[in-house]
Formats: sequence, C-alpha cells, structure tokens
Amino acid sequence: MKAKIQEKFEALFGEEGILYASAGRINLIGEHTDYNGGYVFPGAINFGIMAAIKPNGTDTVKLFAINRDEYVEFDLTEEGLPEQHWPRYIFGVCREIIKRGGTVKGFNAVFAGDVPIGAGLSSSAALESTFAYALNDLFNNNQIDKFELAKIGQSTEHNYCGVKCGIMDQFASIFGKEGSLIRLNCKTGEYKYFPFHPQGYKLVLIDTCVKHSLADSAYNKRRESCEKAAAAIRKNHPEVEFLSDANRLWLDEVRAEISEEDFLRAEYVIGEVQRVLDVCDALERDDYETVGEMMYQTHFGLSRLYEVSCEELDFLNKLARKMDVTGSRVMGGGFGGCTINLVKEELHDHFVETAVEKFTEKFGHAPKIYEVVISDGARKL
Ligand code: GLA
Repeated sequence: MKAKIQEKFEALFGEEGILYASAGRINLIGEHTDYNGGYVFPGAINFGIMAAIKPNGTDTVKLFAINRDEYVEFDLTEEGLPEQHWPRYIFGVCREIIKRGGTVKGFNAVFAGDVPIGAGLSSSAALESTFAYALNDLFNNNQIDKFELAKIGQSTEHNYCGVKCGIMDQFASIFGKEGSLIRLNCKTGEYKYFPFHPQGYKLVLIDTCVKHSLADSAYNKRRESCEKAAAAIRKNHPEVEFLSDANRLWLDEVRAEISEEDFLRAEYVIGEVQRVLDVCDALERDDYETVGEMMYQTHFGLSRLYEVSCEELDFLNKLARKMDVTGSRVMGGGFGGCTINLVKEELHDHFVETAVEKFTEKFGHAPKIYEVVISDGARKL
C-alpha cells in the first residue's frame, strides 16, 4: 500500500509525502455504552488507513482517495461542506482543529485503506484519526493531546457527518497498541491496557456484508432514548449524570414514567456496563468461558432490548451457539456488519466453513471472514 500511495503522490504533486497511518477497531464488549458514560473494551486492528501528506504553502487542501480513484479539493477559508461524503471526514478534522485554536494550513494528501466499509470496523474513525494525528504533527508540533485528537474525530462525526457517536472508535484508533485491548471509562477518560493473547482461542469476525439503511438515524434515536431514561432517573437521583451512573433499581423506579421502548434500551445499557467489568475480571483469570458467555448476553441484549441486530446477524449468532463457539455477538453500531466470535482453535476452521456455507445457503451471498490482529493505532511511519 505504501509504494502505491507514494507513487500516486509523486505523480500528482511531484515529490514524496510524509506517511501516517491509523487503524480500524474491534470491541470485545461494551457496545452502545460510550455515549452513556460507561465502559468500552476495544483494540485497534491490522486493517487501517495510510496517507502521504505534505504542506503545500497555500490555503487549499488537495486530496486523492486511491480506493475511490477520486480527487477533491477544498479551501480552508471557506466553510461550505464538500459535496461528496468522504472528504467531509477530513474537512471536519481540519475545522475542528481550527475551532480549538490549532493550526491547519493547506496540504496535499493521497490515501488508501483496507478497512471494509460498513462492516462496523470504524473505517471513518481510522480516516479521521490518520488526519488528526498527521495535522497535529505537521502544523501543531504535537501540542494537541491524544485524547483531544480522538475528540476531534468524534466532533467531526457529530458536526459534519450527522452521527452522534460516542468516543470509542476514535479513542481506539488513536490509542491502539499492538497485542492489547483498552478498557476505557468514557465518563472519566481513565483507561487501562489489557494484554490480550487468549491461549488456544482465535478471534474471528464474520461480515454479513449487509448494512441496513437508516442505521445512522436509528443510532441517534437510541442515544435519545438513553438520555430520556437518564433524565427521568436524575429526578430521583441527581448524581446521575449519564445512564451508566444508574442501577437497575433506579431504572425500575421510573418504569411507569418512560416509554417501554426507552426502558428496554436503558435496561440493556445498565447490564452492558457491568458486563465489561465482568469480562475484564474474567480475563485476569484467563477464564474465557465467562468472557464468551458475556458476549452471548450482549448479543441477546443488542438484539432483543436495544434492537440493533438484524436477521443476518442473529442467524450467525444462533449458529455459533449451536456449534459451541465460546462467545459470539454483533459488534459495533449494529444493523448489519460483523459478528465477533471467540472460538477454540480446534473448532475454528469447522465453524468458519459451516458459517460460510449455511449463511450463503440462507441469504444468497457469502459472508466475509476477517482474522484480526490487535495492532497499533495512529502513528507516523
Ligand atoms: C459506533 C459508534 C461508537 C459506539 C458504537 C456502539 O461504532 O461510532 O461510538 O457507540 O457504535 O458501541
């Protein structure tokens, strides 16, 4: 990928660019907890975005996306959004840095990536993080701290791409470290690296290759439900800033005051925050059976209470259970994308083959299989 990017950079701009990269992410457990101030447990992966970048001494940003074979430019002095969707991620990062008092001047960039789009592996966070990291290095002497870089990516989603996401994806893609998952407390920003080398197990992702429409608006709607439930609980318990500060009893107290739908969403979130802690404890004992069981519980919650699963994902989850796979669940925002599976090594090949066969038989197209490696996040190459 490196050679191809530099070659294109030279062809377009007549010199070499400086190389930066960042990564997509997986999340072992802790889904839809980030915007509720709860815990998440992600790690960066060996699928990412790589970019060659160089300041060009003007006010213009010139971009070439290899995967799309498209060239776009925008002016830093103009606030109008780029017409196409993909440049908005970079436009937003520039604006968010400037908004915070940082510097961005014109630059040339060529980038490419191998994070599958729409699979729930955060290709957009990888793109934002690559540019946030690079522009901090090129124009700001690395003065913007890493957590703020993640927030710059998150604000880009909120203000330029229409998704009111939490901080997990951008955090993982900036802070990712080879061989480690990171438990993040999304309320306080405290985080801890957990080396993750499950002896005798493999992590495999199965991509349904479907992305149901309305995913973004449904995501924002889930967030609103959680905020409504938290507001109702706060009336009785003013210390509740986020839904993750509440417990099940406090939620039960307001059951009659909120809609059944909001209640179920909140029930899921409160359970999920606890499951992250349980999984971290289990990992410290090398107790993968418990880790796996929690993953199944998360899937149940995401499917029945939070309602962000779909037929294809439920099918894969059910098959995993039937085949005695240790853990399996929908990963990421939902409405399509991947399941993440924790599988005993001796079962791995048989499970993957069966899943591909049965899924194809049922849905008429093959799922994709990704063997992920926990890798480094944003960096200069
Ligand atoms: C998407 C969002 C994240 C997070 C997950 C669900 O990936 O970008 O902030 O909310 O969904 O856990």
